[in-house]
Amino acid sequence: MTSQPRLHQKSQQIQEFGTVKLFPIALSYDARMYSCQRLNQVLADTQFLYALYKKHHWLMRGATFYPLHLLLDQHAEQQLSLVDDIAERVQSLGGVAVSDPRHAAEITSIPRPPDGVEEVPAMVSRLLEAHETILTEAHDAAARTAELGDDGTQDLLVSQVIRTGERQVWFLAEHLVVTPLVQS
Ligand SMILES: [Fe+2]
Repeated sequence: MTSQPRLHQKSQQIQEFGTVKLFPIALSYDARMYSCQRLNQVLADTQFLYALYKKHHWLMRGATFYPLHLLLDQHAEQQLSLVDDIAERVQSLGGVAVSDPRHAAEITSIPRPPDGVEEVPAMVSRLLEAHETILTEAHDAAARTAELGDDGTQDLLVSQVIRTGERQVWFLAEHLVVTPLVQS
């Protein structure tokens, strides 16, 4: 016997992306396949919304630097928590969650931002547009997955993805209201 770890091991894939295995969760193959496909789209987009929040948290400028710097980080944390919940829903359905950022980049519909820095209102607008893309997908996916009987996925999309997104949109959009600071 030896205590030497067996390093550099390799394997074939034991489950391909885009497939589902059968768990006894009273959902049809078609429902589980459909939900995984819709969830992986929302998952890829949510990963990029998270990255967009971190980018703008770091690159924030101007008079509202501090509150926006903090707010965007809080939203990023909440989006990261959603990423985990969505990915684990895919696993619960027997699927394979999109995980590598290079794979997510192939799937996402969130436009790539410039590598540099935009003006603050454009940063906020970019985040709002990313939110609306995800909310549009989530509303449609929630309705369709519910039609196929996948109440758990519908609940995740409504009570977490949609509710969190709507609240974050509120907090962001109020930063684009032109309002006097000192005198009306
Ligand atoms: Fe930070």
